[in-house]
Amino acid sequence: MIKVAIVGTGGMARQHARVFQQIAGCEVVAACDVIAKRARDFAKRYEIPAVYTDVEELLDEVPVEAVAVVTSDAAHAPVSLAAIRRGKHVFCEKPLATTYPEARKMAAAAKRKGVINMVNLSYRNTAAIHKARALVDSGAIGRVMHVEASYLQSWLASTHWGDWRKQPGFLWRLSKAHGSLGVLGDIGVHILDFASYAAGDITRVDCRLKTFDKAKGNRVKGYTLDACDSAV
Ligand SMILES: NC(=O)c1ccc[n+]([C@@H]2O[C@H](COP(=O)([O-])OP(=O)(O)OC[C@H]3O[C@@H](n4cnc5c(N)ncnc54)[C@H](O)[C@@H]3O)[C@@H](O)[C@H]2O)c1
Repeated sequence: MIKVAIVGTGGMARQHARVFQQIAGCEVVAACDVIAKRARDFAKRYEIPAVYTDVEELLDEVPVEAVAVVTSDAAHAPVSLAAIRRGKHVFCEKPLATTYPEARKMAAAAKRKGVINMVNLSYRNTAAIHKARALVDSGAIGRVMHVEASYLQSWLASTHWGDWRKQPGFLWRLSKAHGSLGVLGDIGVHILDFASYAAGDITRVDCRLKTFDKAKGNRVKGYTLDACDSAV
């Protein structure tokens, strides 16, 4: 049985818990969030026995083989490195890290320890991307000279997923001080990954970034909304 800990128990962690629990031979044995109530509620909902607010404590006390890192972006590197140091495999959410040197450090640490440090670029699971790659690989569309890719996401413009002004899970994504790289970290990494997975290595990327005014003084609940929210 592979024992997994989920670190970060916000919105996306629900998906991790649901899917890990569907995999035979895999058991989610611990949950951790810096917000204790969030971790407790999550553990109760998914019947996870051990609950922590400190990942180092969790890793010292619970024998796990792998850690799913589903924290907000800024904590991906420190949490993953804590797990890798103890020889645990890591399944880390995108973006792998918030800087290139950090990402390289994680990759090097995983290599040294002989563990997997995998990043959840989830569009790799989509049939359309696989078909696009097969078309390119087979030569059906000839030599690819230029790729245009877009990804439209609506949480700033609609309330389908809730009101972004009221939810920390949206607000940190709009704030550099909360470790966000803005739309580049949130969506750009997906675009680059699915476009290059389909078309092959891309030598140059162009995009224009924009940060629209969204609130009075561009501040909401202690979050300064300065991370780019749009890219073309
Ligand atoms: N692959 C995908 O398609 C996809 C989709 C959605 C989100 N994500 C990624 O998943 C991650 C989480 O997103 P979310 O929407 O769940 O955000 P969220 O804000 O809802 O949840 C993040 C949680 O991490 C916790 N946290 C922060 N630092 C921590 C630390 N050091 N230790 C333990 N917990 C910590 C926060 O308290 C929060 O509860 C982000 O990196 C995001 O980019 C990926």
